[in-house]
Amino acid sequence: MDNKPIVIFTAFMVVALIVIIGYLMMSNPFGAVSSAAASEQHGMGDQQAMILYLHNCASCHGTSGDGLNGNPSLINNNLSEAQIAGIIHNGKGKMPGLPKLTEEQVRKLASFVKRF
Ligand code: HEC
Repeated sequence: MDNKPIVIFTAFMVVALIVIIGYLMMSNPFGAVSSAAASEQHGMGDQQAMILYLHNCASCHGTSGDGLNGNPSLINNNLSEAQIAGIIHNGKGKMPGLPKLTEEQVRKLASFVKRF
């Protein structure tokens, strides 16, 4: 009896399994939660900061931070992130503060604004 096709088939399946396992280990498609944590570490927490910015700030400072309707531009300002965080929390002049944001949200927003 010639069982060569079975040997070839088995070898093929082993290779296919290795490829699939390798793919799963690298791409981690089911790890949505842990990859959200990972993307945080890799700066994609920016997305949350961007949403916060568009929601709370863009109406006055513009979507790219260049200032609208006489509100100041945030581009290349000399403020530190801590100063920006203070302004976000407390407001300044006609700008309302956002005391309801968490410290974490304020910190993300401040570093987002700092990079305009
Ligand atoms: C209602 C309009 C309005 C909104 C909304 C608003 N701002 Fe402002 N913002 C201002 C005005 C007006 C000033 C100038 C205040 C002053 O100097 O008297 C200002 C000043 C600032 C400054 C200081 C700029 C400088 O060079 O001194 C920063 C930083 C800032 N805003 C960031 C933000 C961020 C971040 C948000 C969103 C969380 C935000 N602002 C939301 C109107 C607004």
